[in-house]
Amino acid sequence: MTIASKTRIAVLISGSGTNMVSLVKAGQQADCPYEVVLVLSNIEGAAGLDKARELGVEAVALPHRPYGKDRQTHEQAVDEVLRQHDVKLVVLAGYMRILTPWLVQAWKGRMLNIHPSLLPLYPGLDTHARALAAGDAEAGCTVHIVTEGMDEGPILGQARVPILSGDTPDILAERVKAAEHTLYPQVVAEFVTKAEA
Ligand code: GAR
Repeated sequence: MTIASKTRIAVLISGSGTNMVSLVKAGQQADCPYEVVLVLSNIEGAAGLDKARELGVEAVALPHRPYGKDRQTHEQAVDEVLRQHDVKLVVLAGYMRILTPWLVQAWKGRMLNIHPSLLPLYPGLDTHARALAAGDAEAGCTVHIVTEGMDEGPILGQARVPILSGDTPDILAERVKAAEHTLYPQVVAEFVTKAEA
């Protein structure tokens, strides 16, 4: 009997890494088609790095600051670490860097992102405040393939949550994040399964 090996993925983070934790935990289930083999952050001391280590995943900080304005050289260093770990798919989870076309091309069709809005609504920052200011009845999150346009790539999945009276951007962000934690592992698993087929 051959045991199918799991697809090796890396999760890139900049902060708390709650989505990363959901992805790692899902990947540790026996029937999940992927495993998180690396967590990488552009922020030294990002809270998510220790969370990853506690879950038994290698976690690397590769700060962008020493590279100044030279985004591509930082990305080349990131890319080298990804390749050293034989990563097949890169999953951005709160990685708050604008990518250059170089990195996007290097991982074309093999890099996913989650964004806290119902794209194409509200690309960019402050999504929850913008949804509230517009008087929207619902908000949500979107998983998409990364392309050169910001938050523009083909959509793989979305989850919706209601906007309730009394919501602040922070309250809404928490409700959306809870939806992200279910959506992202599901979409990554589906994507990996299709890619392997
Ligand atoms: C998530 O809500 C994610 O959608 C958002 O950052 C948060 C990261 O939270 N990403 C973006 O805004 C990207 N444009 P986490 O670190 O707790 O997973």
